[in-house]
Amino acid sequence: MGEEKSGRSHVLPLLVIGLITSACGIALGLSIHWFPTQASEEGKDIDTLWDVLVIVSVPIFVLVETVVLYSVWRFRMRPGEELKDGPPIHGNTRLEVIWTAIPAIILVALCSYAYVVLHDIEKAEASEMRVRVVGEQFTWTFYYPNPGGKEIASPQLYLPKGKQVKFLVQSKDVLHDFWVPAFRQKIDAVPGLTTSYRVKPTKTGTFPVVCAELCGLGHSVMRQSAHVVTPDAYDKWFAAAKAKAAGGGGGGAQPAGGGGAAPDGKAIFTSTANPACGSCHTLSDAGATGTVGPDLDKVLKGKDAAFIQQSIEQPGAEVAKGYQDGIMPTNYKDTLQPEEIKALTDYLVKVASK
Ligand code: CUA
Repeated sequence: MGEEKSGRSHVLPLLVIGLITSACGIALGLSIHWFPTQASEEGKDIDTLWDVLVIVSVPIFVLVETVVLYSVWRFRMRPGEELKDGPPIHGNTRLEVIWTAIPAIILVALCSYAYVVLHDIEKAEASEMRVRVVGEQFTWTFYYPNPGGKEIASPQLYLPKGKQVKFLVQSKDVLHDFWVPAFRQKIDAVPGLTTSYRVKPTKTGTFPVVCAELCGLGHSVMRQSAHVVTPDAYDKWFAAAKAKAAGGGGGGAQPAGGGGAAPDGKAIFTSTANPACGSCHTLSDAGATGTVGPDLDKVLKGKDAAFIQQSIEQPGAEVAKGYQDGIMPTNYKDTLQPEEIKALTDYLVKVASK
């Protein structure tokens, strides 16, 4: 009897400790910057959902831990109790109903809320634009609809601020996952399927595009950039990309080259965006030390322009010993201009003949 009484008297202090710990835990949980910059309309709802989950989870965690630690302390074995067993218990219906019902209610409420958020962020706006996103080992290509012409292919993602975009995500080979952390959403790129999600960028800037599915040796280098620009800048970029695709040239839609001058092969090789050759290949002349693909200091020795150009445009035509076909992206013919491929080839021929 005396024991029971002292057990009851612990409830209030435990409750106070639990409340204080929960309050501190929630404050800590909400003050930590868990995520990178938020740059989409949908991101706001998603970040709020996260905050609500933190607020609900912390007290539950504290409750469970408090009961566990209290029980370990209070019901610990004392000297002389080695052979003692506790009283046989046949359950407590009221307690079991309560501990089943409360979690069930919390779960249903959170799921309903999450469903509403998902429903909201998937809503289509009348004027949404579309971008086809194609993943392959180990790069992304972004295709823009071009009414009356061939889709415009770009190695970098350009989006106008404030306009909803629907990504149509596809894969040429294995599973990838299209993720722009700043937009807060991601989806698998599945061979044979088109998956999608919508985003409305709210901030101009450059944000990383990441592959979030382990897809092979070059998975970690499957990174590009999403450029969110003003609608005017976007229109300009698109017009330039279109002119470039039509063979007009000089549009400056891609970082390499620029200024109307002949593109610089070494600059293309060392670019960090596309093709970013150095992230996979070693080439001492360019200071590149990648090990995903063949060491160009070795495999290009004495090779001619025809071989090198073919290796860029159709990497599968001849695969270096010890390497697999399919590791090098096959989209450079689409995403680089012919004069860029020529400049890159000329540069590599020059280096190979040294
Ligand atoms: Cu593609 Cu990981």
